[in-house]
Amino acid sequence: MYTAKDYKNLLGMKGFSDRALNVHFTLYEGYVKSLNSILEKFSTDSVKEGSYEKGELKRRFGWEYNGMKLHEIYFESLIEDGKELNSESGLAKAIERDFTSFADFLEAFKTAGAARGIGWILLVKEESTGKLLIIWVNEHDVGLLANAKIILSMDIFEHAFMVDYDTKKSEYINAFISNINWKVCEERFENN
Ligand SMILES: [Fe+2]
Repeated sequence: MYTAKDYKNLLGMKGFSDRALNVHFTLYEGYVKSLNSILEKFSTDSVKEGSYEKGELKRRFGWEYNGMKLHEIYFESLIEDGKELNSESGLAKAIERDFTSFADFLEAFKTAGAARGIGWILLVKEESTGKLLIIWVNEHDVGLLANAKIILSMDIFEHAFMVDYDTKKSEYINAFISNINWKVCEERFENN
């Protein structure tokens, strides 16, 4: 069973209203609850093995799990006013290698986020090569790469931005970027 984490330390963060954050925390907690509900059904054998329902629950498991985990990576990527990327870090050097410069990376990340559609914009490290990629994951699962470690995740579902910004998603993206905790991203990059 999983326990929803507490991200109330983010309340008061510039560019995010408390209302928007609290709504988002509730949605996140819903994924944890649904995931646990599936696990409970599996553990008690209340759903018959080989049944249509069990098959559907198994298909649903990854969607709920990723809905929980991607939100955790997202909330844990944020801190009031952000923490700058250390230009000497392995992550900074990889960004320069794969995107030319940090500024070019940010532009590419913003552009990916501005595209129409819902889901997640992720900065990932391909585990076999160490190469960094910006990818778009539709919902929580379509397009998630099997061989990739997530370094940074940005929620681009409407619930992430419409409470504070209506349809002005680019303003939300700028607020998100200004609060990124790059120290945490550096650690994710280093720790396999
Ligand atoms: Fe979300």
